Amino acid sequence: MKNRLIIYSFLIGLFALGLSACNSPAEKKKFTIGFSQCTLGDSWRKTMQKEMERELAFHPEINFIIKDANLSSEKQIEQIQELIDQKVDLLLVSPNQAKPITAIVEKAYREGIPVIIIDRRTLSNNYTAFVGADNYKVGLNAGAFANALLKGNGNVVELEGDPAGSSATIDRHNGFTDFIKQHPGIKYLRHFNVDTEPWQEQLTEFLKTNPNIQLIFATNDRLAFSAYNVCKKMGVEQKISVVGVDGLPGDNEGIDLVDKGMLKATILYPTGGAEAIQTAANILENKPYEKEYNLATTIIDSTNVRIMKLQNQKLSALQHDIERSQQKIDEQKIITRNQTNIIYTISISLALALIMGLILFYYLKENKKINARLALQNEEILSQRNQLIELDKIAKEATEAKFHFYTNISHELRTPLTLILGPLEDILSSPKLQFSIKAPLEMVKKNTLRLLRLVNQLMDFRKIEHAKMHLRASENNLSAFVTEITNAFTETATKKHISYRVDIREADLKVWFDVNMLDKVLFNILSNAFKYTNDRGSITVTVYKDSSQTKAIILIEDSGVGMGPETLEHAFELFYQGNEGTFKGTGLGLALSKELVTLHHGTINVKSEKWKGTRFEITLPLGKAHLEENEIEKESNPYYLNYEEAKIYTNELENQPKSSTENIATGGKDYSILLIEDNNEIRSFLKDQLSKNYEIIEAENGNTGLNLAYEIVPDIIISDIMLPGKDGMAITETLKNDLRTSHIPIIILTAKGSMEHQIEGLRLNADAYIVKPFNLQYLEETIRSQIRNRETLKDHYSSELPSEGQKASSTKKIDRKFVSEFSAIIESNIGNENFGVDDICKEIGISRVQLYRKVKAVLGYNVNDYILTVRMQKAKYLLLNEDLSISEISYKVGFSSQAYFSTVFKSKFGVTPKAFKEKKTDN
Ligand code: FRU
Repeated sequence: MKNRLIIYSFLIGLFALGLSACNSPAEKKKFTIGFSQCTLGDSWRKTMQKEMERELAFHPEINFIIKDANLSSEKQIEQIQELIDQKVDLLLVSPNQAKPITAIVEKAYREGIPVIIIDRRTLSNNYTAFVGADNYKVGLNAGAFANALLKGNGNVVELEGDPAGSSATIDRHNGFTDFIKQHPGIKYLRHFNVDTEPWQEQLTEFLKTNPNIQLIFATNDRLAFSAYNVCKKMGVEQKISVVGVDGLPGDNEGIDLVDKGMLKATILYPTGGAEAIQTAANILENKPYEKEYNLATTIIDSTNVRIMKLQNQKLSALQHDIERSQQKIDEQKIITRNQTNIIYTISISLALALIMGLILFYYLKENKKINARLALQNEEILSQRNQLIELDKIAKEATEAKFHFYTNISHELRTPLTLILGPLEDILSSPKLQFSIKAPLEMVKKNTLRLLRLVNQLMDFRKIEHAKMHLRASENNLSAFVTEITNAFTETATKKHISYRVDIREADLKVWFDVNMLDKVLFNILSNAFKYTNDRGSITVTVYKDSSQTKAIILIEDSGVGMGPETLEHAFELFYQGNEGTFKGTGLGLALSKELVTLHHGTINVKSEKWKGTRFEITLPLGKAHLEENEIEKESNPYYLNYEEAKIYTNELENQPKSSTENIATGGKDYSILLIEDNNEIRSFLKDQLSKNYEIIEAENGNTGLNLAYEIVPDIIISDIMLPGKDGMAITETLKNDLRTSHIPIIILTAKGSMEHQIEGLRLNADAYIVKPFNLQYLEETIRSQIRNRETLKDHYSSELPSEGQKASSTKKIDRKFVSEFSAIIESNIGNENFGVDDICKEIGISRVQLYRKVKAVLGYNVNDYILTVRMQKAKYLLLNEDLSISEISYKVGFSSQAYFSTVFKSKFGVTPKAFKEKKTDN
């Protein structure tokens, strides 16, 4: 903002300077004067013009336009009109003839243009000023001279015109004749109109016939000179005196002709050029002026001609001097103008320099301020930086302290854990160990080892995080190493009936690796593979060199539960807990493995598909070019299996509780348990324990529990009795009496141990009743037994498909009712080709999900499969018992196409309906 102000003031300064330069006092307002001249063709007029120019030199403010009418009055009228149109400030007119020019001059005057009439007049008085000599007086002077010369007696003629009709001619004639008239001795014999007559011939003739003529008066010197020449031609020039008008200086002009004796006299008639310009300037500048500027006139004859001539010469010399001075003045003016320009330029430059200086000064001041501010900021930044360094130091120290803390606490934990493990293993290996405490002790051992593993992994991880763990690679046989580690899992494989294959493609595969790191990686991945592979699954380990011969590859593939896309994406993240249920998160193991492989400059990748299995690929670069000097172990020490490490990883696998659910399930968690328990601790304990094998849905009050039961139709419900909202008994009663949920086994879990409660529970059709504090194993066993019962029941229903089912008796009345209702609906619609799930839902009054779950739970069938099976059973029955054609039977069981019916029948029973019928007939 300030900068702009400075620039604006600078520009204003410049502008003012410029203005003052233009408005110098020498400069006046400009005027335009238009001059209409009747002719420029004779010396009198040229003299007038010169006089004007001389005067105009003193008036630079006047712009002078001159128009030559060339002795034509019409032309002069036109030109005056042009000057009016040009809006000249003042009009100068020397009329050619008085009468024709009068109107146009009046017009100009009326339009407000100041008009100066010069020399000749118009017929009007409407003009601003007149400059000129009195022509009548000129005529009188001429008359007086003639009278005096002829001493009152003689004969005269007059040459009149050039031009006729001009006021000069008219007035001179009048003056002359008026004077002559008063002197009767003087005879005016004739006048010649020079504009209209061949006057020279006429004059010659007249002089011949009138030899007594003594004087000729011509209205100007030009005519007078011509008259003299006529006389000379006739040889009478000495006898006849010629008098003219004008009296101009210069060769063969009036004065010279008088001096030479050719003219007797000339009446001085001044042009008034200078006076006209002076008058014009006064009018334009509103100064006083003479309206009638009368110029003096005089007679020039032999008596004064010399003086006149000398005066004129002097005047001419003076004039010359004046012109030279004028020229000098003009030159001086140019110099002065140039100097003025230089002064202006210098002044402007100085002003500019001053302004620039001011701006510079301002900026320097500002700069100083900015620098001071910057210095302050710099200081602040510096102090902040120091603070940051200090903070960083503190943070580093804190991190270091944390690391030490982790390391120490890990060590502290390892010692007691090892001390627990030693005696524990001793006890477990004792032959005297009571069978009843073996299982819990195994559990203690398993968890001790689990803790040990976690502590070890945590320590390793911290070491890597703090760059404290360095690769110590030595050249080893990777094949032998992998074999050694895989062997540690053979026993587990055997126990779990897992098909375990180790495929070593190259017996001696030399690879640079850190044995104490890579074994952790392999233990980790292998233990995972075993953990997530069900009994009778398969695990394969393959070791080989890749096709480019630059990498060694270890592949570990299993047919386990696999991971869904989301879990897979986060597989190598610390403690990632996916929400896919089956895969129990990765804990530390995979994250650590990845770090360890990365330290080897290798890669680890995983591919997995839910329920299909998992495949880990570890690649290690061959040779040691990729290793830094400090990553290479000088001495290579052979690898001996780290038994503790092996135990840590394998023990857990071997001691996994045998779960019958897993036998039933194809993928581990096929069953869901709805846990209705308001005590958070018990609920989360149960969830922790049971979620290994079951999908757990939690509800912390009775109402939520009941809603969830309808919503998800779980496989089992474990419910407390005392609950906020609906209590366990009410829930049991509701669910057991509802067709949609009646099949769900309900285990009542309560601190109330009284027999009445148990009886009440059982009366309400609870499937089991467990009293708190309960034995977890007992609970697990109860769950398994309930599931087994459900399966048996399912087999029971489904094996009796279709018609026998209705004969069968079931302990679960409501389920039996459901089965019979369900079967009846299907039976009565068996011939309806378009009959489907939606029809059943509508008839029974439950949702599709509930129907699916119910049929699956009670009959173990998919609804559509069940309908198809009923159709086929019916077809079989009809083939056996009725004498109907196959096409009729296919129609009766809801098939519009016999061919399709035959295909379905054959896929179900292994024979075509036709073959089946024939076989029956044979039997
Ligand atoms: C020139 C002239 C002069 C004369 C004047 C009169 O044009 O004829 O000789 O004195 O004009 O207006």
